[in-house]
Amino acid sequence: MIEKYTNRILQGDCLEQFKNIPDNSVDMTFADPPFNLKKKYKSYKDNLEFQEYLNWCEKWIREMVRVTKPTGSIFLHNIPKWLTFYATYLNKLAHFKHWISWDAPTAPMGKSLQPAHYGILFYTKEPKGAKINELRYPHKRDRKQGFLIKDYGGKKYLLHKFGPLVSDVWTDIHRIKHNKKRDPHPCQLPIHLLDRLILLTTDENDIVLDPFSGTGTTAISAKRLGRRYIGFELDEKYAKISKEKLEKTEANFKLGETWVSFYLKKVVTIKHKDWEELEKYFIVPSPSKIIDYKKIIIRDKRYIPIDNNYSKINGSKVNKILETEIIKMSDIQQKLPIG
Ligand SMILES: C[S@@+](CC[C@H](N)C(=O)[O-])C[C@H]1O[C@@H](n2cnc3c(N)ncnc32)[C@H](O)[C@@H]1O
Repeated sequence: MIEKYTNRILQGDCLEQFKNIPDNSVDMTFADPPFNLKKKYKSYKDNLEFQEYLNWCEKWIREMVRVTKPTGSIFLHNIPKWLTFYATYLNKLAHFKHWISWDAPTAPMGKSLQPAHYGILFYTKEPKGAKINELRYPHKRDRKQGFLIKDYGGKKYLLHKFGPLVSDVWTDIHRIKHNKKRDPHPCQLPIHLLDRLILLTTDENDIVLDPFSGTGTTAISAKRLGRRYIGFELDEKYAKISKEKLEKTEANFKLGETWVSFYLKKVVTIKHKDWEELEKYFIVPSPSKIIDYKKIIIRDKRYIPIDNNYSKINGSKVNKILETEIIKMSDIQQKLPIG
């Protein structure tokens, strides 16, 4: 039954689309809803009354929990203000794991502290038995000299060769700044942010559902990591762009047989348990103490997959629809924060 809806972007209202999805059928749900911040969406009014917005959110949050499998996870991305309400509601339906703080500048909210992170609530459907993987990301280094940012003193030889375990504060994933890397959408998320959530909670062929798919970030991440996807999107234009990009996306984010997240030709997230298998694809600093100034590098550039959606965007292969829209929307994109 669920197969009918997988690997598709379904255009329409998410509450209507959810009616087609059976209970306990999806491995991971992720939502990046409109933040009710008066954003210029094409077909949606982003300025509901306070309680009206929250009542609407409760409806789709309930649906997300309903369709998630007992081994599955639920992620909600928003500004902290709305997440405090989401958490109160979700605590009754699912099980809190983490508040992930994604370090990224956000819109000024008034004469108070400058908001500098988005939150991603991470809940599991059941208290036990959820599929969760430990992840690793590359050591943080000084951009000019390449030295490790943290001083580990005489303990450098104990460091993991690839990098530390991913914590609940993410400072290494940046908002999409360049127009050539984005679509005509006011709040597109970086794909490798979704790669990280997908590697955290799913395996190959699992199903990932995003009820506010936008221009298909979650679906593209799922596809290139060998997962199945379901996306709902109200706006016809965004759904069309997603479909075009998905057609060009390949399930190729792997080293050998192991799924990993790439960004700018580097591996940026791996599952901890895969390291033994992955190590052979890297030149690892030796002796281990030179890790202080010597990066781990991929052994052969041919291992790096081609991203058909953005790699040639300045060249002849650029999609003409995207090109014109990028120019038209560029001013808006410069000014607006995510969400
Ligand atoms: C914050 S954006 C999501 C962006 C997405 N994460 C991306 O990276 O492209 C929210 C999206 O939800 C869509 N939307 C708004 N109301 C909706 C509804 N009732 N059902 C489905 N989609 C809706 C908007 O058109 C918008 O594209």
